Amino acid sequence: MKKVAIPLLVCLLIVIISCKNENNSIDKDLAINSSTANTKVTSIEDKVSALLSKMTLEEKIGQMNQYNGFWDLTGPAPKEGDAAKKYEHLRKGYVGSMLNVRGVKEVRSVQKIAVEESRLGIPLIIGFDVIHGYKTLTPIPLAESASWDLAAIKTSAEMAALEASASGINWTFAPMVDISRDARWGRVMEGAGEDTYLGSKIAEARVKGFQGEDLSTSNTIVACAKHFAAYGFAEAGRDYNTADIGISTLNNVVLPPFKAAKDAGVRTFMNSFNELNGIPATGDKYLQRDILKEKWNFDGFIVSDWGSITEMIAHGHAKDGNHAAELAANAGSDMDMESYLYVNELAKLVKEGKVKEAVIEDAARRILRVKFELGLFDDPYKYLDEAREKEITGSKALNDAALDMAKKSIVLLKNEKQLLPLKKEGQKIAVIGALASDKTSPLGSWRIAAEDNSAVSVLEGLSAYKGNTITYAKGADVVIGEPNFTTEVKINTTNKTEFGKAVTIAKNADVVIMVLGEHGFQSGEGRSRTELGLPGVQQELLEAVYKANKNIVLVLNNGRPLTINWADQNIPAIVEAWQLGTQSGNAIAQILYGDYNPSGKLPMSFPRDVGQVPIYYNYKNTGRPSLPGPDVVFWSHYQDEKNEPLYVFGHGLSYTTFKYSNIKVKNSYKGSKEVTVSVTLTNTGNYRGKEVAQLYIRDMYASVTRPVRELKGFELVELNPSESKNIEFVLTEKELGFFNNQNEFIVEPGDFKVFVGGDSKANLELKFTL
Ligand code: BGC
Repeated sequence: MKKVAIPLLVCLLIVIISCKNENNSIDKDLAINSSTANTKVTSIEDKVSALLSKMTLEEKIGQMNQYNGFWDLTGPAPKEGDAAKKYEHLRKGYVGSMLNVRGVKEVRSVQKIAVEESRLGIPLIIGFDVIHGYKTLTPIPLAESASWDLAAIKTSAEMAALEASASGINWTFAPMVDISRDARWGRVMEGAGEDTYLGSKIAEARVKGFQGEDLSTSNTIVACAKHFAAYGFAEAGRDYNTADIGISTLNNVVLPPFKAAKDAGVRTFMNSFNELNGIPATGDKYLQRDILKEKWNFDGFIVSDWGSITEMIAHGHAKDGNHAAELAANAGSDMDMESYLYVNELAKLVKEGKVKEAVIEDAARRILRVKFELGLFDDPYKYLDEAREKEITGSKALNDAALDMAKKSIVLLKNEKQLLPLKKEGQKIAVIGALASDKTSPLGSWRIAAEDNSAVSVLEGLSAYKGNTITYAKGADVVIGEPNFTTEVKINTTNKTEFGKAVTIAKNADVVIMVLGEHGFQSGEGRSRTELGLPGVQQELLEAVYKANKNIVLVLNNGRPLTINWADQNIPAIVEAWQLGTQSGNAIAQILYGDYNPSGKLPMSFPRDVGQVPIYYNYKNTGRPSLPGPDVVFWSHYQDEKNEPLYVFGHGLSYTTFKYSNIKVKNSYKGSKEVTVSVTLTNTGNYRGKEVAQLYIRDMYASVTRPVRELKGFELVELNPSESKNIEFVLTEKELGFFNNQNEFIVEPGDFKVFVGGDSKANLELKFTL
């Protein structure tokens, strides 16, 4: 645990508080701590205990209460008069945290009340959804995950923390570490995709990026692993829907990224809206107390999701608000986000004996512990420096980092006829698609602090290259009107009046760049879809333009895998460009012109048809995995579609090519408990390039069946043409084992296969036996 000396500023603060209430002995205790700081270092635990001993029950409950800023965001708006009540509660010390208060001025205004007007002056922790950047946006998390570049992902989180902290924020509700296999679910954009191993590595990188080495410095912020748990398994991909999964999936698929976040030191968790096996996660003692707090020994705190305590009534789990507060507190939800139930009900529940005072004490202790770690008691105004805010917000360094991350996130799905990279001179290029000129959509849906129209559009990005002639036609709108964060997006399903102009410019072009896909507000919270094709009239537009000119580069913008069979069959070059944030257009232009060689790999399988969903590479084999004879129907398949996805997990091309050879296994498991796999990777093409070398294993038979493949290692390698490198992967118990149905992590002796290559279809393989 970090030790924090109490500096001058807090002494000053203590003096102020002491003047306000001379009988208040907490101030004296703290003053004593501070005056003896040189000779006796007081631990955070001692400080928390000292503070708790001075707090009334209501003040402790106050720490468990989180209010939204004074406007509506992802849930029901505060009722009339609530703002006044919130101010009153701030003054009484009945608020531990606020969310969606941002900017130094605003944060100061609430922090000042908490610190200078409440009896004990306990600072607020200020939360915000810093999901992929604060104001300067990096790619949506799913896109960043496509980089498989852990160092870059960590830097991206560091940059987000830097900019957010300069605006007064000290806690982000990120990373979302929910594994999902269902592209219908709009929130796949916010996670790391379908794979537990990759998701765990990315969870670790993001937590370390946000929190840094030292939470008490003013450029790091507290991270929050969410949503605990199984939110990504919402039935039928419909957001907030029920999750019903077995113990094996919970332990082997859902929980490991949360555990990785915990091991990386994450200080908060958020529970989830869904029920899991009949119990809303917010009221689930097994998840929150038994697993997280006891088994994993997590000593930070858990915040509810927005209004999720109240929602236990609608779930049919709690009788009323009072009962919901009782269930949530007893289950281990430490802080109430916007249900107003802890602040209104908990004191009564304690008096009635339904919630033990020890539960309150424990929750308040956890929250105060994190506040001490942040250094908020040393200086509650440490994040509140207008000059720093001005200097950092939107700075060049942040934009450079966002551009770097954006380039690394792009995945080249297909490149025939060597259409890419584009020639830099003498070409007539037609750019088509409403998204090509859109400066808002690339920001995605989690972009509350970014301004509309602040992203670099594809057209703007391309305009930096002067050697070609560019013409533009939008062809068709994707959405009708200006979409926003809270309301349903309206798709253009009828208006094709501008198709003609697009076809005309295509006819006269050497190459056509079509920017199609989803608007940024089509994915994210509450944005599930039942079909995954190009929305609205865009498929028709693509086919109309194709009739005029087949030299099309399709640039996709989307927050989830799409079904693009027709494009895959007909369009020579396809670039997956997601929603890439502020620097989107620059990144896309540099990829298209070959100034950056694409190296991204898909973190989610792209289905051929929505009927295949949930679809994922690490499925189970079943007892009938293949055709038993000509035309026999009795095997696990579809009558009307292949089983395989269109683009597999891990797929991604480069302008160069790579060859894998010389796979070797050194099995030292009986001695050092390690199996080492080595392979030679060679750049066989003409460009310098990066490749994500991927290792998969298959445990051939086990007491609980294992998937046909599981990613267990990867390395990002950069090579010059003709250059080779020997890559080594080490498999330990951690990679070779799994959880059985008794919750035990075991490694079973038996036969394994190992595969190495550039995607989840990797076919260089060897066997080994444990
Ligand atoms: C989301 C959370 C988010 C919270 C606060 C909820 O609706 O599910 O992920 O952190 O709102 O904005």
